[in-house]
Amino acid sequence: MLVLGIETSCDETGIALYDTDHGLLAQALHSQVAMHNRYGGVVPELASRDHIERIVPLLEQVMAEAGRPLDSIDAIAYTQGPGLAGALLTGAAVATALAFSLNRPVIGVHHLEGHLLSPLLSDDPPAFPFVALLVSGGHTQLLQVDGLGQYTLLGETVDDAAGEAFDKSAKLLELDYPGGPALSALAAQANPDQPDAPVFSLPRPKLKSPDLDFSFSGLKTAVLTQVKKGLPTEHRPWLAREVEEAITDVLVGKSLKALEQTGLNRLVISGGVSANHRLRAKLTDAVKRWPKRRGPLQIHFPPLALCTDNGAMIAYAGARRLAAASPLPAGEALHFDVRP
Ligand code: KG4
Ligand code: ZN
Repeated sequence: MLVLGIETSCDETGIALYDTDHGLLAQALHSQVAMHNRYGGVVPELASRDHIERIVPLLEQVMAEAGRPLDSIDAIAYTQGPGLAGALLTGAAVATALAFSLNRPVIGVHHLEGHLLSPLLSDDPPAFPFVALLVSGGHTQLLQVDGLGQYTLLGETVDDAAGEAFDKSAKLLELDYPGGPALSALAAQANPDQPDAPVFSLPRPKLKSPDLDFSFSGLKTAVLTQVKKGLPTEHRPWLAREVEEAITDVLVGKSLKALEQTGLNRLVISGGVSANHRLRAKLTDAVKRWPKRRGPLQIHFPPLALCTDNGAMIAYAGARRLAAASPLPAGEALHFDVRP
């Protein structure tokens, strides 16, 4: 089955063609980061208009790259939510119109399920069950995943998401949007062995609490306090480093706690923050310290290109959902809804 995936929930237009027998055939992505940069965040109306301009050319590009005609598509999956209403409507309208014209089934996909299943697109996909750490700009959740659609929420952030903590701290450090990668790059400039290296000490919120919830808003306030005290330009890399260490310490600590509490030894990380190098390094390190009696600890990340928003994860999640659906959703309906 050939499934077209359309992602337009925020500031990335992502289109991909997934073949249930042969995997990902082609994908194309346009990021609006440069356009929103001067505003310090995503401007919803600009996002919707840009999706409208990009979506058809990207679709044509993907079909050409895959060497398939439009009518070879068996089903269409689009991001139904959560996301920006206008941005979601663009993808939903194109997906539904295309499905109507081709008389194919169309399915709305939950954006977070797309992220959650994206590590399954790797060459070495994890088997169920696993613990998932979902860390994006809008969400931070730990879930027990027993199968497709069998998701148990173990814990989540009570305020800001991890990506938001990166973005807001980056903004305080006067870095460009999106802040995660920018803050991480600044942190990499800090050499901890430098004799006169400034020492910053930020909180690791909820790290020691027995629950699996997160809280990142206090961290942002602590960064603000540091900045207000006066931060010499040359000290910025060290503060960025401490922010990255604090966030990743908490994410790693809680993930290990979730493995302990569920008795599972497979961890899957997804969402934009899963691209973070320190997070990857610390989790890789945790594998070495994992007690032998609990069996080998397996950690799975999505391929780097699939960490942030993309069409491939939507095509894949749609394909899995359609494969599990019986009968397939009818192709002729021309109504759709989005869930911002
Ligand atoms: O999953 P995603 O692309 O969009 C949402 O669904 O939110 O995640 C975007 C988030 C942003 O907050 C961004 O700063 C963060 O992921 N991010 C990173 C890195 N790459 C993206 N955070 C830390 N380190 C990174 N390398
Ligand atoms: Zn996302």
